[in-house]
Amino acid sequence: MTKLALIGGTGLTSLKSLEIIRREVVHTPYGEASGPLTHGILCGKEVVFLARHGYGHTIPPHKINYRANIWALQHAGVSNIIAIAAVGGIRNDMVPGRLIIPDQIIDYTWSRKNTFFEDGLTQVVHIDFTFPYDETLRQRLLKGCHAAQLDVCEGGTYGVTQGPRLETAAEIDRMERDGCAMVGMTGMPEAALARELSLGYATCAVSVNWAAGRGGGSIIKMEEIDATVKTGMEKVRELLGHVVPLV
Ligand code: HPA
Repeated sequence: MTKLALIGGTGLTSLKSLEIIRREVVHTPYGEASGPLTHGILCGKEVVFLARHGYGHTIPPHKINYRANIWALQHAGVSNIIAIAAVGGIRNDMVPGRLIIPDQIIDYTWSRKNTFFEDGLTQVVHIDFTFPYDETLRQRLLKGCHAAQLDVCEGGTYGVTQGPRLETAAEIDRMERDGCAMVGMTGMPEAALARELSLGYATCAVSVNWAAGRGGGSIIKMEEIDATVKTGMEKVRELLGHVVPLV
């Protein structure tokens, strides 16, 4: 049976409607995952939930053990992953509060453990990453948004920064010139590691603030982000109620 995993990001460390069956601590060759895997039933389907930043939201983006997380999910029998992420809006239509299903990635991160293919290889491995997200899963997310009548941006390039600090206005200008529509800190190497293990992977992003220098150019206030995260993640919960039965 193909199993679906949900990786929760900022503002989504638990799923109220998940009927929890058990928690599983997976010891991986890459160390500890962000926490135990939560196995449960959502909308009649078996799903596995993992809070990317830990269940107490204590692990910053650059310290997340992405390899352990993805390896643990595959070990648990997962074949598809829906990753939830809070992002800052760069393009005009990435208004705070909107959902976005990105279709491309630019990776600006550095020094993260970003591959499973490094030690003990009999041959060098290069995965194809032309289209970083699984298109079938993306289309299901979009279908779910439409069914739930949720306002959604149907594509856009997710620029992934190292963090944990937010960007300067000049960095966002550069990212916009590169073609980035949104900015976040956790999209990579997560997506590439999922591809290395042949897992279907797509992201549902929520714009929770205007990126630095956008939306009038004032400084970014955490209280405003927190409020938008709350309302945005309610939309994600609603979306999952429509998407999970489709996967
Ligand atoms: N920059 C980077 N990551 C983010 C942002 C941002 O403005 N908002 C939410 N995650």
